[in-house]
Amino acid sequence: MPSATPESPRVVLGVTGGVAAYKSAEIVRGLRRAGYFVSPVMTRDALKFLGAATLSALASEPVRTELYGDASTPSPHTYLGQSADLVLIAPATAHVIARLALGLADDLLTATVLATRAPLVICPAMHTEMWEQPSVQANLQTLRSRGALVVGPASGPLANGDEGTGRLEEPERIVEVVSAVLGGYRGPLSGRTVLVSAGGTREALDPVRVVTNRSSGRQGYALAEVAARRGARVILVTTVRRDLAPDLLSRIEVVDVESARDMRDALVGRLVEADVVVMAAAVADFTFDPHPVKWKRADGPVPMIPRPSEDIVASLVERRRPGQVIVGFAAETGDPEVAARAKWRSKGVDLMVGNDVTAEGAGFESPTNEVVIVSGEGAAERLSRRGKAEVAEVILTKVEGLLARGD
Ligand code: CTP
Repeated sequence: MPSATPESPRVVLGVTGGVAAYKSAEIVRGLRRAGYFVSPVMTRDALKFLGAATLSALASEPVRTELYGDASTPSPHTYLGQSADLVLIAPATAHVIARLALGLADDLLTATVLATRAPLVICPAMHTEMWEQPSVQANLQTLRSRGALVVGPASGPLANGDEGTGRLEEPERIVEVVSAVLGGYRGPLSGRTVLVSAGGTREALDPVRVVTNRSSGRQGYALAEVAARRGARVILVTTVRRDLAPDLLSRIEVVDVESARDMRDALVGRLVEADVVVMAAAVADFTFDPHPVKWKRADGPVPMIPRPSEDIVASLVERRRPGQVIVGFAAETGDPEVAARAKWRSKGVDLMVGNDVTAEGAGFESPTNEVVIVSGEGAAERLSRRGKAEVAEVILTKVEGLLARGD
C-alpha cells in the first residue's frame, strides 16, 4: 500500500446510516491502495451500523463525527471542506441525499459538503421502494444539476433478503471512479480517439419487420467505457442503447445506427478522427431491399432476397492511414481459434478477437466472455472466462502497445 501523506490527494469519505456502511471499510482500503489520504466522516446513524474504530483503523486519520467539541480542529467542516480534493459519500441514504439537495448543514458531513469546492461523488444505497420514490429521484436530479456525480446503485441482493435496484455500487468500481475524477481522466489513451462499434445491425424487410442477431452490445460498451477511463475520447457507433457510467457520459459520443449500411456510413465518416477502431458490432452479412409498405399476411411469405452487405472492417482497413490500429471480432460457434487466425489474415486487422458465442458464460447476452486474441502469424492468446470489462482491459492494453510501436 503506498503510504499516503497529508500532501496526497485527500478524499473525505462520508458514511451514512445504511446496512451498506460496512462496505465503506473496503472502499477505504481501495482508496488507500490507490494512494489517497482518506479522512472519514460518519453520521450519527452510520455509527449504528459500523463502529468508528473500524474505519479509524483503516483510514489515514481517525473518524470524525461531530461539528462541535473537537478541540484540535475547532472548525472541522471548513478544515475538511477546504482541504478535500474530492468528497465521496458511500453509502448515501435517501435522507442524506434530501439534506444535501436542500443545502442543510445540520451535521459535520452536510456542513463539509457546503464548505467545499471539491467534486462530490454520491453512491446511493437503499431499498428499491425508496430508490424509486419521485422525491429521491428529484433530489438526485437537483444534485446532478449542481455537478454532483451519482454512481450506482447496482441491482442485486439487498438487506433483509430482498432483491432489486438499490445496492451500493461495488467498492472497486467506486474507487475506479474516484481515481478517474482525481486523475483528470489521464491515462495511456489520453489524446487518442477510439472509434468503437457495438450491437447487432437490423436489416429492414418492410417498414415493420427487421432481420437482426442476438448481439447485446455489452462487449462494445465495455470497450468504450474502459477506453474512456484510460483517457481516450470515444465515438461509439451502436445499434443498441445501454447505460454508460455517468462519469463517462461527456467522454463518449454515442452515434445511433440501425442497418449495416448506416453503420458503414457512420464508421467510414468518422474514421479520419480515429487512432483506434474496434469493430465489436455483429454486422449483418446480408441485407434486403425493403418492401416500401407493410407486407400483408394475405400476400404470402415476405420475399427475402438477400444481397451481401459491404464488409465494413475491410473498407476501414482499405482506407486506414499509417499508425491507425484496427481490431476485429470473430463470432464463432465452436472453438474460435482457427477462424480467428484465418480472419486476422484475410481482414488485414491488427488484432482479431475470436469468441465462441455458444459457450456458457461467453458470447452475446452474457456479462462475461471467453476469447482468443490473435495478434500475428502464430500469435494467439487465450483468455479464460472473465467480465467483459476485463476482456476490454486486455484488448486495450494490446492496442496501447501497438500505438506505442507506431509513434
Ligand atoms: N464485419 C464487418 N462487416 C460485415 C460483417 C462483419 O465489418 N459486413 C466485421 C465484424 O464487425 C467483425 C468482423 O468483421 O469485427 C468479423 O465478423 P464475422 O461476422 O465473424 O465475420 P464474417 O466476415 O462475416 O465471416 P463469417 O460470417 O463467414 O464467419
